[in-house]
Amino acid sequence: MTNTFVSYHRPSIGEAEINAVVEVLRSGWLTTGPQVQAFEAAFARAVGVKHAVAVNSCTAGLHLALEAAGVSLDDEVIVPTLTFAASAEVVAYLGAKPVLIDCRPDTYTMSPQALQAAITTRTRAIMPVHYAGQACDMDEIMAIARDHDIPVIEDAAHALPASYRGRPIGGIGDATCFSFYATKTLTTGEGGMITTNDPDVAERMRIMALHGISKDAWKRYTAEGSWYYEILAPGYKYNLTDLAAALGLEQLKRQAEFREARARIAARYDEAFSDLQGLRTPVALPDREHAWHLYVIEVEPSHVRLSRNAFIESLRERGVGTSVHFIPLHLHPYYRDTYGYTPSDFPNAFAAYERMVSLPIYPAMTAADIDQVISTVREVVARANSRARVGTVGV
Ligand SMILES: Cc1ncc(COP(=O)(O)O)c(C=O)c1O
Repeated sequence: MTNTFVSYHRPSIGEAEINAVVEVLRSGWLTTGPQVQAFEAAFARAVGVKHAVAVNSCTAGLHLALEAAGVSLDDEVIVPTLTFAASAEVVAYLGAKPVLIDCRPDTYTMSPQALQAAITTRTRAIMPVHYAGQACDMDEIMAIARDHDIPVIEDAAHALPASYRGRPIGGIGDATCFSFYATKTLTTGEGGMITTNDPDVAERMRIMALHGISKDAWKRYTAEGSWYYEILAPGYKYNLTDLAAALGLEQLKRQAEFREARARIAARYDEAFSDLQGLRTPVALPDREHAWHLYVIEVEPSHVRLSRNAFIESLRERGVGTSVHFIPLHLHPYYRDTYGYTPSDFPNAFAAYERMVSLPIYPAMTAADIDQVISTVREVVARANSRARVGTVGV
């Protein structure tokens, strides 16, 4: 068998998506318009919420949701350290302080105990991140938040579709932000959606997403629109295009098919690696439906005589692309130097980071791709373990 390179990700774009975008190109209306309206309505139905606001990234969504929650200068927002840059930078946009906390050691999702300990009189919002596509402990997190009357803004960049104790992610907290970035479970290239059941929050986010100008400003070049508008606040330019929304509408129709494909790959990996000493497969809790955006393994250094970086390099040399999610925020120069964090401040995230590797998991993987990932991982672990055994007898 000749190995080709299994890239870390490849999107699934079919003819329906291509045709939908071409139709928008031919329609004469490219930016926010009827496709965005239809996408918002379909998305709201899909996750069972009253309002969905389309934006041009999840980062934009998180910014708008925090702004609508009233976060401002010198407030604190609690964010897990094991997340992407976006989750915390939006807090800084508003002049507030991101207060980083640790994760659970098994699922890497927000630790409710760490959350409880981090609450102060200045806490203005809590941002759980549904890491890898698995929901955080939302009952515990919501109870803590409600006790202190603090809004919960969920970062669900990984979590479409996902559910927690039978409830879809999207309608649990005060607002939930999804990402349609190129590698995500639904993609529009770049894009995002904010969901909420609160009409006032939805209205504020809509206004701020388009320069803070009065409702339906996007309609001003349509027959029914008016040239007149009013600026209500200094807003942002975060609206989604109709081109992207047309793509999103088609991708949304395929969500069940995509999720099943990812769940099948996860089950294949779980089984194929179950006997491997020194390799920990992901912990999926029974009371939540995992979106399987990421499949994160841990390479146990006491068994596999290979550093995580060498492990990644060996996979790459043998044709398997991987990634690491994430370098915890507190290790980055900005957060380390601004807030004085040290690596050991968040021991669970730090230990996980040093061992974690994200394997390819996406519907466009062929059976041969999946087999190649499995055999390559097994081979790299076996070689490292045999070297380790040789090492222990001093050869
Ligand atoms: C956890 C998390 N939050 C937010 C984002 C930002 O998403 P976007 O690129 O749509 O702004 C990402 C993107 O990778 C992410 O992984």
